[in-house]
Amino acid sequence: MLRVASSERVLDVLDDAPDSALPIACRAGNCGACLLAVREGADLLLPPDLAERETLTAFGAAPPGERLGCQLRVGTGVSGRIVLEVRVARPDAARSDPS
Ligand code: FES
Repeated sequence: MLRVASSERVLDVLDDAPDSALPIACRAGNCGACLLAVREGADLLLPPDLAERETLTAFGAAPPGERLGCQLRVGTGVSGRIVLEVRVARPDAARSDPS
């Protein structure tokens, strides 16, 4: 279990968690390596921006149940439990022109 403060990026917490199982590559929402399923607490996360939504679409994924771990940020003034499950992005679904 990790604790993420209100308004904090989940990635910043994962960077300090040596046993994190989340694969991270570009850290910018472009590669899809950090695709995960949100099993609980999707309403505690800020919604995805356009770039994240485009990457999710390229991988056949969709919010709120699927998100990019490197882009997750907890909402302001919220608290609760968020359960995330690491997924492996399908390479054949990757977009050919990442931006
Ligand atoms: S690490 Fe590339 S999209 Fe998250």
